[in-house]
Amino acid sequence: THFASLGADIAICGRREDPLKETANSLTDQFGINAYYETLDIRSPQDVEGFVENVFNIKPLTGLVNNAAGNFISPTHKLSSRGFDAISNIVMHGTFYVTHSVGQKWIAQQLPGSILSILATWIWTGSAYVVPSAMSKSAIHAMTMSLAVEWGPKNIRVNAISAGPIKTLAASAIGDAKFLYKWNEDHSFLKRNVDIHDVGNSALY
Ligand code: HXC
Repeated sequence: THFASLGADIAICGRREDPLKETANSLTDQFGINAYYETLDIRSPQDVEGFVENVFNIKPLTGLVNNAAGNFISPTHKLSSRGFDAISNIVMHGTFYVTHSVGQKWIAQQLPGSILSILATWIWTGSAYVVPSAMSKSAIHAMTMSLAVEWGPKNIRVNAISAGPIKTLAASAIGDAKFLYKWNEDHSFLKRNVDIHDVGNSALY
């Protein structure tokens, strides 16, 4: 929304068509921008390639925001390997597939670009009961630092925002999310959680 409010055309993807359509229509209605959407499961590298190709065929992308997440709160010893994969395939593998595909296009076409990944504070602290997410977000942190060096000289900025828990519809699907919000509110210096505007405004940089 923050990008669209400043006139950016937007391309979004996700697994379910209805929320994508609703979001794209709302961005167009509110800000008069072009909004493209496509259903995509970023766990499939071939489908990611197809989506990125379609977007670049409309207009070369200028900025990529990685915000795909999957999470559940679970004692780690009770997780199955498929449970671990469900999270890490979305967060770590999916984010790499998208970043890699977009970066390849920018480099091949000698275009500048900006990559912003949304992480979480547990990349620094770790966090009990969300180990697959903590591990995967930490991996994207490593990717951010690595690509900043590798792709910076190619005029591609690579940054990340590591915020605490934010009240969103996606996060509300996680059991015990309310406990997490309360805990972070009580333990933060400002005694409040960050919100979508804090993150949205930071993302505009
Ligand atoms: C332990 C679980 C589990 C749970 C699923 N699994 N839920 N294990 N605890 N609560 C296990 C299943 O048993 C199965 O393993 C394996 O994971 C795959 O399950 P699926 O249901 O097939 O997975 P999938 O359809 O891929 O869905 C995964 C998911 C979904 C998208 C992550 O669980 C989900 O909708 N989660 C809640 C919403 C969400 O993730 N929102 C985005 C994150 S927001 P077995 O071995 O049994 O086959 C965020 C912000 C954090 O991260 C802020 C917090 C406040």
